[in-house]
Amino acid sequence: MYVLSPSILAADFKTLGENIAAADRAGAQYIHIDVMDGSFVPSISFGMPVISSIRSVTERTFDVHLMVQNPERYVDDFVKCGADIITVHAEACRHLDRTLEAIRSSGRRAGVALCPATPLSVLDYVWNKIDMVLIMTVNPGFGGQKYIPEMTEKIAKLREEIVRRGLDIDIEVDGGINDKTIRTVLDAGANVCVAGSAVFGQDIAGNVKKYLAIMAEYEK
Ligand code: DX5
Ligand code: ZN
Repeated sequence: MYVLSPSILAADFKTLGENIAAADRAGAQYIHIDVMDGSFVPSISFGMPVISSIRSVTERTFDVHLMVQNPERYVDDFVKCGADIITVHAEACRHLDRTLEAIRSSGRRAGVALCPATPLSVLDYVWNKIDMVLIMTVNPGFGGQKYIPEMTEKIAKLREEIVRRGLDIDIEVDGGINDKTIRTVLDAGANVCVAGSAVFGQDIAGNVKKYLAIMAEYEK
């Protein structure tokens, strides 16, 4: 299944609820929520109170991307405030296996995010504990950056590995996804596309519909 996950980092925060409702009405299946702690990444975004507050706006899947050092400390909190998918960075976890177990045992879907320079081999002993792999196609920390071309091969290798192992794991891509790059990542094997500035920049409904239409071409 192909899914669009608009990143609210690029939304207008003074009308955040309305921005999310617009993406929902236009058909976006997920809402991508970037939590940044100012330590794992330089920037600080927002946390639990904001997520709890927007939970009432939509029933769409909350796709929470934790750019947070030692995220295992907060799994319960994000579950409580309404996360459906909790994605942690492999680089930020001292005990990745335990963190994934904690997410799964809370009944939520577990994702592992990899920074551009992190090899796929970090997944080797946790394949059975993952629902989604997030390939960062920019260095995490900011919206509006340029897609890193070397990531196309990484996405393709990951898809190959998932097929070879006979697993049912989504591949999400995040960073610099727009009109110019979306087909590249879909061709390589991604099936969940995050888009921040390309969706919330302007005409939210129009952008969501445009990307959903492109993804529909890939649906078998
Ligand atoms: C970056 C975040 C992204 C960001 C993407 O660290 O993880 O989700 O919002 O923004 P765009 O789509 O503008 O590159
Ligand atoms: Zn993100």
